[in-house]
Amino acid sequence: MSHAEDHEGTRRDFLYYATAGTATVATGAAVWPLVNQMNPSADVQALASIRVDVADIEPGTQLTVKWLGKPVFIRRRTQEEIDEARAVDLGDLPDNESRNANHPGDASDENRALDESGEWLVMMGVCTHLGCVPLGDGAGDFDGWFCPCHGSHYDTAGRIRKGPAPTNLPVPVAVFEDETTIKLG
Ligand code: FES
Repeated sequence: MSHAEDHEGTRRDFLYYATAGTATVATGAAVWPLVNQMNPSADVQALASIRVDVADIEPGTQLTVKWLGKPVFIRRRTQEEIDEARAVDLGDLPDNESRNANHPGDASDENRALDESGEWLVMMGVCTHLGCVPLGDGAGDFDGWFCPCHGSHYDTAGRIRKGPAPTNLPVPVAVFEDETTIKLG
């Protein structure tokens, strides 16, 4: 191989890599605005969405599903439970934040429930004290949920009423996709 050929080859390689490099940058520039537009958490949530068939849940009972490795309570409340939750004076609540990803605001039952009638309540089944799973079905002094490990009492809207838990049980992103299907995430 002559010196000239050797030089030629090197130059071609250089041009090739330079072109490839330019192409990569261009692709990066084109992709970035797309990535940038997507809220990463929304993206993650979309991948982690689940659909729950709630057709068989009777009033006064609840279903616990596992979502993102955590329990989620889906309760179909009786009118009595709804009335009890709506009769509470918000000034009596230790935490007057809705803690609802769908409805920010005060902790009124209307801001906590999934639907307007208040029949459906969806919450993370994780005590806000140290993360135990509270007992449900009318447990505790406020007829809602009770966490026995340190004695936190939640009412029929999942709001903390007594005990060490600092906040209401969080309500995750949730929506009725059709009459009998709740989509989480
Ligand atoms: S973890 Fe629920 S009261 Fe402590």
